[in-house]
Amino acid sequence: MIAIGCDHAGCELKKAVIDTLTEKGFQFVDLGCDGTPCDYPVIAEAVCAKVLSGSCEKGILICGTGIGMSIAANKFKGIRAALCSDSFSAKFTRLHNNSNVMCMGARVLGTGLACELAEIFVTTEFEGGRHQRRIDLITEIENKN
Ligand code: RB5
Repeated sequence: MIAIGCDHAGCELKKAVIDTLTEKGFQFVDLGCDGTPCDYPVIAEAVCAKVLSGSCEKGILICGTGIGMSIAANKFKGIRAALCSDSFSAKFTRLHNNSNVMCMGARVLGTGLACELAEIFVTTEFEGGRHQRRIDLITEIENKN
């Protein structure tokens, strides 16, 4: 199950991502918004809560640039949110960072690219090994602050 959310700027793109990936067999919990103007940190919190509780394995957040969502999501302990606008980053943030949330900018990306990035993000497995040590160091930083 994938948690997904957007602000008003990301609503159309969110619908496209849900439609495209649902057709490929993925399942989503849509945490809003419905297009009505809203504040992106509220939606980021709802999606991160689903990921942190374990009820969703990953989250996708969409706002105008993706930047506000990524800043907000990375405030939550245990969330590793990656702002992606290219396929290499979407792949390697899973392989190396074990990112559990991906953020995208609806005013930055075309629909086709965004759907492709979402699919890469949800299908790529973490490589583990030496990368786990680095994730552990991030967790140590979180625990110290
Ligand atoms: C909303 O206008 C816009 O500020 C928001 O979608 C996002 O881009 C913030 O980072």
